[in-house]
Amino acid sequence: MAGQVLRASSPEEAWSALLGCAAVVSSAPTWGALGLGAPAQWAGWLCALGCGSLSARAGLKALCWPPVLNTTLGLVSARPPGMLSLTGGYLMGYCADSGLPVRISNQSMMRHFLAAGMTGVGKTVSAISLMMQQISKGGGVLWVDGKLDPQNMETFFHMAKWLGRESDVRIINPADPRLSNTYNFVLHGEPEEVASRILSTLPATGLSAGADYYKQAANQGLISVLGALKLSRLAYNCMDLAILLTHPKALRELDHRVSAWTPLKDPRLAAFKLFLETCKTTPSNGASSLDAKKLKELFGGVAGRLFVFGSSQCGQVTQSYVPDIELFEDLKAGKLIYCALPTMGQQVSAQNFGKMVMGDLRTAIARLQARPQEERPEVPFLVWLDEVASYANAATLSTPFQQSRSAHMSLGVGFQEQSSIEELGPAFLGTLMGNTYNKLFFKPADRASAEAWSRTLGQKKTWHRSHQKGMGETFKFSLLGLHGANAFQQTRSAQESLKEALEYRVSADRLAQLGLGQAVFLHASSEIYDLHIPKIEFTQDLKAALGGVRIQRPADRTVSPTMEQTQGLYFEQRYREFLSELSRREETLAQSAHEARMAAPLKFQNLARLTPNAEGGEASEGAVAEGSAAEVRS
Ligand SMILES: Nc1ncnc2c1ncn2[C@@H]1O[C@H](COP(=O)(O)OP(=O)(O)OP(=O)(O)O)[C@@H](O)[C@H]1O
Ligand SMILES: [Mg+2]
Repeated sequence: MAGQVLRASSPEEAWSALLGCAAVVSSAPTWGALGLGAPAQWAGWLCALGCGSLSARAGLKALCWPPVLNTTLGLVSARPPGMLSLTGGYLMGYCADSGLPVRISNQSMMRHFLAAGMTGVGKTVSAISLMMQQISKGGGVLWVDGKLDPQNMETFFHMAKWLGRESDVRIINPADPRLSNTYNFVLHGEPEEVASRILSTLPATGLSAGADYYKQAANQGLISVLGALKLSRLAYNCMDLAILLTHPKALRELDHRVSAWTPLKDPRLAAFKLFLETCKTTPSNGASSLDAKKLKELFGGVAGRLFVFGSSQCGQVTQSYVPDIELFEDLKAGKLIYCALPTMGQQVSAQNFGKMVMGDLRTAIARLQARPQEERPEVPFLVWLDEVASYANAATLSTPFQQSRSAHMSLGVGFQEQSSIEELGPAFLGTLMGNTYNKLFFKPADRASAEAWSRTLGQKKTWHRSHQKGMGETFKFSLLGLHGANAFQQTRSAQESLKEALEYRVSADRLAQLGLGQAVFLHASSEIYDLHIPKIEFTQDLKAALGGVRIQRPADRTVSPTMEQTQGLYFEQRYREFLSELSRREETLAQSAHEARMAAPLKFQNLARLTPNAEGGEASEGAVAEGSAAEVRS
């Protein structure tokens, strides 16, 4: 049987259905209104067991086998955890065998979750169900969508709008700036953090000593430049950084600016100056100067990536000095953020963009957990990292996993095959498996995944009955002496024994038989549940009423809540100055001719406005027009 669908035509009713709230769902007509005619048994169970008001029919079924919902697992689910109220915690789904709802507490959720399974089996649907509950609680969400299904963005927006939280929605959509808030992921964090964020986009160096040396040198250089930028108190973006890392003129300018008011003994300035020295060459007949070739050797790869982030469509999203989205502030405020990674056609850029978001998230989580308790989100913030293997690894995820709980956040990760995680090293698999207290295993894509998950679900002791049959000869004695020819007698025996054995609680074969929206839920490393997960689906009418995605701008974002000052570096807008000599001269000539043409009439216009005409009023439009034309002709 396919998974069950809760079709919503009115918010209160369908939402109550998901929460199992007695007031609405216990009456049969309401279920009819929700379009739940077909899965009547399911509906009956949702209300009966979710609300604790067992109807006679449902009550009867609860006591006998076969299970309430279709299943091939043959598994007896554990007792649902905790003593939660009907709406407390998070509803994960319903046990196929008993029909009982499985809810986990906030505390449990803050120990993180994973959803693994082949494509199209319900990982995203299960996360959407959790996100919906989160939004209704007033909590914050960050959904990093590694797949960019346009439907997902719409679903996210509809959920928020439907639950009255449209104004909290923020969208990061580098493929379409018109449908995106602004987000600058190099702006916040200590120089070391931003440098490691940027370097995470470079391929792993593996065992190559040369590549490792290059990466270390680039890291040190980046830290010094970012340190100087912090001293300058100027905001910057990806393109500014790309220019700064490859153009001596830009570096000299930064040097002048920070040297003017920073004491030389400041360690950041000293590091920057030392770095500049290492990038200088001294010709035999002249003074030493910054060598563009050395800079390119050191930062070529890094600057190239920053250039991609800072140019074209993506650049329009990342260039802001006062971006709409500041992760740390938005996590604190419980905003609803959807981050669409660029299309699969640009897979490398998508992955790199995702890595930058992960780095920024890591910084935000670290800052949040260092804040006093009252500043952390009241409802734990929910992060859903879909297709996590394409943009995260052990290095980027292990610290967030460890810090999230104290920051009052929960992380969820989704992936398909076990091998996609193993490819990124054994540490990554360990990080995901070891840090998630709640695991949803859907139908696996391959045998290797099935066997690995079966092992994770654990083994149980069973007793095996064995029969032994034997035949033998006995030499009989009696008090009367030998029995002669009959002294030898044949005997038959049968022995039965019980032997203890270990077997998997859910075999790989059983996992492979899971259907759509069905999963084995492993909670707290020991309890397992044969789970059916409800799917939330908006009706066409409701979707039409909610409308398309609309970008919400923060009300008064002229000053960054995080930055002391929001004056920008603006290298990007002066890019002509950093072009090569020849093209620069041509550009400058063309530009100055154009500017002169434009400036003259403007100057005249302003002058004419200020000069009263003969009647004592302002100069007439006609006079201005005439004057402009004359000025232009001259
Ligand atoms: N619980 C469910 N009940 C009913 N239908 C479901 C359920 N879960 C999934 N489906 C159906 O399967 C489709 C795919 O589900 P989903 O997008 O969650 O898959 P996925 O595991 O995230 O796949 P991918 O790895 O490709 O992203 C859904 O659009 C829906 O039609
Ligand atoms: Mg998915």
